[in-house]
Amino acid sequence: MILFVAALMLLFEPRVSSTSSSLETQIFQYIDDHQNEFIENLKDWVAVKSDSVQPAFRKEVTRMMELTADRLRALGTSVMLVNQLPDGQSLPAVLAELGKDPHKPTVCFYGHVDVQPAKKEDGWKTDPYTLTEIDGNLYGRGATDNKGPVLAWINAVETFRALKLDMPVNFKFIIEGMEEAGSLGLDEVVKETKHFFSDVDYIVISDNLWLSKKKPALTYGTRGNACFFVEVGCGERDLHSGTFGGIIHEPMTDLIALLDSLVNMSGHILIPGIYDDVATLTEEEKQLYESIEYDLEEHKTIAGVNKFLYDTKEDILLHLWRYPCLSVHGIEGAFYEPGIKTVIPSKVIGKFSIRQVPHMALATVEKQVTQYLEEVFSKRNSSNKLKVSMPMGAMPWVADINNPMYLAARRAIKTVFGEEPDMIRDGSTIPIALPIGAADAGEHSQNEKISRYNYIQGTKLFASFFLEISKLHGQLQEASNTTCALTEEP
Ligand SMILES: *[C@@H]1O[C@H](CO)[C@@H](O)[C@H](O)[C@H]1NC(C)=O
Ligand SMILES: *[C@@H]1O[C@H](CO)[C@@H](O)[C@H](O)[C@H]1NC(C)=O
Ligand SMILES: *[C@@H]1O[C@H](CO)[C@@H](O)[C@H](O)[C@H]1NC(C)=O
Repeated sequence: MILFVAALMLLFEPRVSSTSSSLETQIFQYIDDHQNEFIENLKDWVAVKSDSVQPAFRKEVTRMMELTADRLRALGTSVMLVNQLPDGQSLPAVLAELGKDPHKPTVCFYGHVDVQPAKKEDGWKTDPYTLTEIDGNLYGRGATDNKGPVLAWINAVETFRALKLDMPVNFKFIIEGMEEAGSLGLDEVVKETKHFFSDVDYIVISDNLWLSKKKPALTYGTRGNACFFVEVGCGERDLHSGTFGGIIHEPMTDLIALLDSLVNMSGHILIPGIYDDVATLTEEEKQLYESIEYDLEEHKTIAGVNKFLYDTKEDILLHLWRYPCLSVHGIEGAFYEPGIKTVIPSKVIGKFSIRQVPHMALATVEKQVTQYLEEVFSKRNSSNKLKVSMPMGAMPWVADINNPMYLAARRAIKTVFGEEPDMIRDGSTIPIALPIGAADAGEHSQNEKISRYNYIQGTKLFASFFLEISKLHGQLQEASNTTCALTEEP
């Protein structure tokens, strides 16, 4: 047993060389030479309005899934389409595979090609669905979340194919079109196709951002998300405040009190017990935070705000990554248009979510939130009806940063970018995550972009990662074989 650990430790000693091999040079040269072609491909993808949030665009999402399947077929993969939606609705998820060599590791890439809604009127400087290059930045909806990274991975595989190089790993792909709508149906797809994933050694996701504009990063954890609806209703129909104002308990007033009871001005969640299961911060973990490059002022500028709740880098990152937070998102049923309308809405639904962290269990969070809101509501003696529900919940995760996949990724980053990555976690929720979008990429907001630099270097990073994971995987297997032999000796 001890021998096994020792053998692994040896392998984990980073043997990072900052110069790339001649094979890598050849690959990187190809990628540089074909960058305009890669950008054209991204342009074609961005042009598809694959907005999964608004059902009216479902056809476009379907078309995007077909384009993705075509692109993957052109790589030589065998493609399988699996319907992702329930109840007679149809939208395929794309599963694809390339290579089945038992001596090579199998790497599965997860990505999504649907996008958040975008309209020029929302404040875009360019048409969101026409990829536009300005000062080295490629603006367009989906450029960084997540069409750009998906294509970068495909470009990297394409490079090996075009150069007639032996593929260093076996590839699997799972690409979906419902991520922005909460990955509806993805669980079922994965369950139905379990056999497809049975020989996967490593899973890679590239759907998040670096922490700074320039320094690459590697993500080893994300927060989860528990989404809540708080519904308060009085009667059947909306009322006029001239006729009923002053003689009834108004649902909106109750709802605002409920929402206001959730979190205080310091960002502290006021729901009793909610922090009980949060993992305690270890000394080793604390040190990881100290070395991270993070420019507070730059982050304020990106957010467009003038103050954060915390003043130090460590406090900010801890509260983004390893402590829970609660955000209020909206109120359905309330009057929100410009102008005045003296209405008393009969039913309003407040929407908020808690980004939960290890080891908070969803069921516990649901119970704590429901009990607390019911208690706050009952103290108001309101004659209205309250209903609390949790329509969606996703678990947080944290990975072991000494896993071979992370070491391979660190080496690849060192080769392509010439420096060690920041080891980061991500405050938002996704299912190893190799981000290639910089911190100011604007995923979900207006003027989303990926820079030409990040897109092309990202493609190289993935190509280099294939080579590194293949080497490490081979070394690991050898080491475990040697160890078995050693431990079998009397
Ligand atoms: C918020 O609650 C926390 C925990 O009770 C407390 O330490 C903090 O002072 C509170 N902040 C405000 C502004 O009340
Ligand atoms: C609600 O009713 C209880 C008992 O009748 C009373 O003690 C309490 O003050 C009331 N609360 C409010 C906010 O009116
Ligand atoms: C390790 O052992 C397995 C099973 O005995 C074998 O299939 C594999 O080829 C060996 N790997 C190496 C790198 O020697």
